[in-house]
Amino acid sequence: MTEIRTEEARAKEAREAFLSGVNNNQANTQGVKEIPSQSLSEAHMGKAVFGIIPEIPYAVEEAVNRLRINISFLGSDVKKIMIVSSEPNEGKTFVAMNLWNQMARAGEKAVLVDCDMRNSTLSHKYMISREDGAELKGTTHFLSGSADINEVLMHTQYPTGDIMVNADNIINPSLLLENRKFEEMLDELSDKYRYVFVDAPPLGLVSDAERIGNICDGAILCVRGGMTSKGVVRESIRQLERSGCPLLGIVLNRVDSSKGGYYHKYYGKKYGNYYSGKYYYGSSKESK
Ligand SMILES: Nc1ncnc2c1ncn2[C@@H]1O[C@H](COP(=O)(O)OP(=O)(O)OP(=O)(O)O)[C@@H](O)[C@H]1O
Ligand SMILES: [Mg+2]
Repeated sequence: MTEIRTEEARAKEAREAFLSGVNNNQANTQGVKEIPSQSLSEAHMGKAVFGIIPEIPYAVEEAVNRLRINISFLGSDVKKIMIVSSEPNEGKTFVAMNLWNQMARAGEKAVLVDCDMRNSTLSHKYMISREDGAELKGTTHFLSGSADINEVLMHTQYPTGDIMVNADNIINPSLLLENRKFEEMLDELSDKYRYVFVDAPPLGLVSDAERIGNICDGAILCVRGGMTSKGVVRESIRQLERSGCPLLGIVLNRVDSSKGGYYHKYYGKKYGNYYSGKYYYGSSKESK
């Protein structure tokens, strides 16, 4: 028998899934109370403080700059952009953070939304805290109904750049992603911001990224140079097609420039000239 669930029942389930996920992660859930969702109000938003300001070499900065310019040529309909990859550790968060950062510095109203709800490292990596000293809350808190949008969306040192981190990882975010509230959140953000950059989990084994892609206007696929095989990249492109998410472009990231020829050998002819030429981001050395 098919079970028909109301929107309210689904929201309740999502909330419970979130809380059990938090419990499994041994986070403190005491005092978590429901706050009715309100509309985004810039005046009520807090400010994020970055303990580590992202600093990248000039060549990488230039490559991100070119990516930013290419994105601005995609037209005004492309607003919600998912940054995704086939496998973990290909540089999604690095690319999303730097792209958002450059857009904001160029004066574009841009928001970075952390939608890696199982394994987010963004707030730790950049040592993000709130200027007012309040508890850092993020995507899973908002989607589960335990925080208001204005508690999770934060201004930053960039006047036109805002951020929503994920402050609590959970084991099964599927219900939160399937809930209409997620789609409404991205839609509302795209009304308020010129660009909504969504830092996603890898396409890999779980369907989270496909669900996110389904409600974005397009995806940028990060491919780790010298590591990710052509077959895996092809499968990711198929997954994006299946989810109805247009592929905006491929970033060949973490390329070891000392091993010349990789790009043309593996990707150059296949994906046309959108990323032709020496279009790579930084070296394979990790910038911790
Ligand atoms: N172009 C680059 N140049 C230098 N270091 C990079 C570059 N891209 C990524 N890194 C480094 O590689 C590591 C993995 O990057 P990142 O966390 O962005 O990957 P990810 O795809 O988001 O991983 P996950 O799947 O775990 O979310 C990080 O330490 C990051 O700083
Ligand atoms: Mg990441």
